Amino acid sequence: MPPLSHAVILTGDRPTGPLHLGHYVGSLRNRVALQHSHDQYLLIADMQALTDNAGDPGKVRRNVIEVALDYLAIGIDPACSTICLQSALPALAELTLLYLNFVSVARLERNPTIREEIATRGFGRDIPAGFLCYPASQAADITAFKAELVPVGADQAPIIEQTNELVRRLNRQIGHPLLPEARALIPPIGRLPGVDGKAKMSKSQDNAIPLSASDADIAAAVQRMFTDPGHVRATDPGRVEGNVVFTYLDAFDPDPDAVAALKAHYRRGGLGDAALKERLVAILQTTISPIRERRATLAKDPDFVVDVLRAGTARARGRTERTRREVTTGLGLFDLHSPASSA
Ligand code: TRP
Repeated sequence: MPPLSHAVILTGDRPTGPLHLGHYVGSLRNRVALQHSHDQYLLIADMQALTDNAGDPGKVRRNVIEVALDYLAIGIDPACSTICLQSALPALAELTLLYLNFVSVARLERNPTIREEIATRGFGRDIPAGFLCYPASQAADITAFKAELVPVGADQAPIIEQTNELVRRLNRQIGHPLLPEARALIPPIGRLPGVDGKAKMSKSQDNAIPLSASDADIAAAVQRMFTDPGHVRATDPGRVEGNVVFTYLDAFDPDPDAVAALKAHYRRGGLGDAALKERLVAILQTTISPIRERRATLAKDPDFVVDVLRAGTARARGRTERTRREVTTGLGLFDLHSPASSA
């Protein structure tokens, strides 16, 4: 997929815990690669995190710095990318409130990502209204920056689709294409499964490998990793499909030819899980250890991290305020700053 050069990028994360390898494969890698050729904004979405953590705002507050540390540790350069805080950008909340009038409750309830998340969180009928409506808030995030490119994991595709529906609806009402449609940039590898083989890596499911994992944590997680239950002895032929170790090798091994040869050997029989896991442990340790070390160094200077966040949020404020004003005047709402408004 050719990137749109110089396009604005906006993407974000909920600060509910340290970021993990699922985020890394899903979108963090893309962000580091794109930051030099694009105007990139990274939003720490604390308001969105609250939509399913209203009982624990302290967790959300504490994790703001953790996520900022993860960004800096993976190689996000604050001179190229703007890191900003959602709750400190009032234009995002104002746009959310406006956008909620342009989407129906039925459409919000149909969103497949929301449906899946409601099921995994076991909300039943007690869904927080903010949670059901978070796609409208995410549409506000994306359009406030006039972002055209949104690097996200595969699970976020329905949210971007709903954003674009809102964009078309708003542009129709406004009468000209004020807001651009956004394209989701989804890595071909798809979603990284949890170490237990569950569809999604998630801290709450205890099946994630965080970017701050120690070498011992990595080895233990790979040890737990789901392979092929029918592959009992090393000499047995084994299945590659659905085998989590191979999914991870596909995502992280720098030598795809070697992985193809390992797959053939595994299918034939004669390749044990232990040897395979040993290779994966080494690769993951090589991937994570420089990130973990940079993170530990940065964590010693929390003032620097807060300064980065403050400067980035100040930069984002002007941009998002401008869009908010364009949308309200575009919709024809009363504008106190314009003498023509009484007409
Ligand atoms: N919903 C995203 C997630 O859970 C986080 C997010 C908030 C986001 N605002 C965004 C992603 C805007 C992309 C664009 O990972």
